[in-house]
Amino acid sequence: MKHRFRVVEEQDCTVAVAIGAYLDCEHYVHLHRSIMTKLSIDKVEGRKVTWRQGLRWLGFLKITQTFVMEYFPPGHFKSYDMKAYPRWLPQFHHFVKTVMDVRYTKHPQRDATVMTFDCEMDMPFFLWPFRNVFQGIVEKMHHLKDQEDLDMIHRRDKFFGRGNINSYLAEGQFLLFKDDYVAHFAHEAQRAQPATAAELNA
Ligand SMILES: [Fe+2]
Repeated sequence: MKHRFRVVEEQDCTVAVAIGAYLDCEHYVHLHRSIMTKLSIDKVEGRKVTWRQGLRWLGFLKITQTFVMEYFPPGHFKSYDMKAYPRWLPQFHHFVKTVMDVRYTKHPQRDATVMTFDCEMDMPFFLWPFRNVFQGIVEKMHHLKDQEDLDMIHRRDKFFGRGNINSYLAEGQFLLFKDDYVAHFAHEAQRAQPATAAELNA
């Protein structure tokens, strides 16, 4: 039985910044430590990354999972094939197959980003009464992660100026799928503005 839900949010940043932050995986464990205990990459095949990730559900329940994240440039990320790690450990993913989809698109009226999060949970009938509980947990964790990212983005705005992606494009900066990122967003480096003294002191 499939339960689907969607969250749409306007984010106060450019699409290039939102996607740069997503691909800047070196920040994940440090910034998102409230929900993530560890993270490593098991495999990379083309635009598919197999992650091994430790999560903290509701702040205390620790699980480890593997999943595939596939990137469809410029702003679409799909996560699927979620499995318990180790495989034999009884866990949520043995019963519920989850697919998550995140898209970043330009806001039609403003210089902002629309984040669309879609989730599908395929579960057996005996878990169906708990679907709203599962949805609540996923929504809460996703919102928390997004809020931490936006706080980081706004801190960076103060130093580099809003929309400045030069640090993501810099030669020494590691990003996932950096060739794709550069191909789609390098032109935005030209409009980057350094922060003013007023912005730095704000
Ligand atoms: Fe993040």
